[in-house]
Amino acid sequence: MKAIKISEHVYWVGAIDWSLREFHGYATHRGSTYNAYLIMADKITLVETVKAQFRDEMLQRISSVITPKEIKYIVSGHSEMDHSGLIPYMIDLIKPEKVIASTMGVKALNDHFHLNYPLTAVKDGDSISLGNMELKFVETRMLHWPDSMFTYLANDRLLFSQDAFGMHLASSERFADEIDTGILTEEAAKYYANIILPYSSFVLKLLEKWKTLGFDVKVIATDHGPIWRDGGKKIIPLYAKWAEQRPSNKAVIIYDTMWKSTETMANAIADGLISEGVNTVVLPLAVAKRSDIALHVLDAGAVIVGSPTLNNNIFPSVVDALVYLKGLKPLNKIGAVFGSYGWGGEAIAQLNEWLKNMQIETIGDGIKVRYVPRKEDIAKCFELGREVASRLKKLPC
Ligand code: FEO
Repeated sequence: MKAIKISEHVYWVGAIDWSLREFHGYATHRGSTYNAYLIMADKITLVETVKAQFRDEMLQRISSVITPKEIKYIVSGHSEMDHSGLIPYMIDLIKPEKVIASTMGVKALNDHFHLNYPLTAVKDGDSISLGNMELKFVETRMLHWPDSMFTYLANDRLLFSQDAFGMHLASSERFADEIDTGILTEEAAKYYANIILPYSSFVLKLLEKWKTLGFDVKVIATDHGPIWRDGGKKIIPLYAKWAEQRPSNKAVIIYDTMWKSTETMANAIADGLISEGVNTVVLPLAVAKRSDIALHVLDAGAVIVGSPTLNNNIFPSVVDALVYLKGLKPLNKIGAVFGSYGWGGEAIAQLNEWLKNMQIETIGDGIKVRYVPRKEDIAKCFELGREVASRLKKLPC
């Protein structure tokens, strides 16, 4: 396994995780990569490591260019273990002169690995000389951890952006412009929806700050997925759009069902939405993964949630989806609730409460149907779909 040159002085020495399908609850249908980079400066510098189980792959790639002991500095832009996992091993192996991280990164690395090794903390705007080159650091707190930090190598106009602008995508190609645009957009959106969305206000501030940094970025080297070499022309406008969270003419229906009654209602609501030209996505929780739901909710204007009542409560899979979505803090949505029941029907009031707590403005009180929907119930569901469509048209999309 060889290093891949990505700019005049930088090699990619990361790992490709073709088999990854689950990343702490995120369904990674297309695998992932853990990107590490080698800067061939006077002080040879390793930016990030990889998940610990990919140690041999990273070492082989490094060894195709230098012997690992030639590395003098290690930079950790983000201390989550998919990137920092091999820092303790590399410290033991090469005894680097410096292990550099943000102030919060130093704390986080010590809390993860209980290191007995002096780490170098850098602050926002600091620089470190690599002899014939220089690294500049930009704190990017909460994108997506408190420790997160960008590193800029002006010689190559290259920004190491840690998780930001990345995606879970295993590929033989290392550059985004070699990959199908539809796949890139979907996977970048999914990454944003599941990892970055709660910190959208920080994204907007960073994009403002970006203009004042004085960096002339050509290459964005992320921690996951392909490297952007268009100066961010594709991904930065997408981040700006996603961070603004403007609703679109799209509705997502999330539901689970016990005896197909709630499912019948979901399909009737979908018919009503579709009849009014709304882009409608129906996500049955028997098959839909949380992280795919988050992807669809990202740009939706409406989130409609259905649940049967089970033992006086919302069906457990529906609560699971709502807990996950609530944590992601999606904004600017309208919604509605529905579901079947046998005798109590408590799930409907509980669903309304959930949506209220998520700042989703609900339309009506919801539709509940005893046992099995009659023709008139199906007609009510269809009308609810049309009403949501009518409200969506009035939103500033
Ligand atoms: Fe890829 Fe937040 O770690």
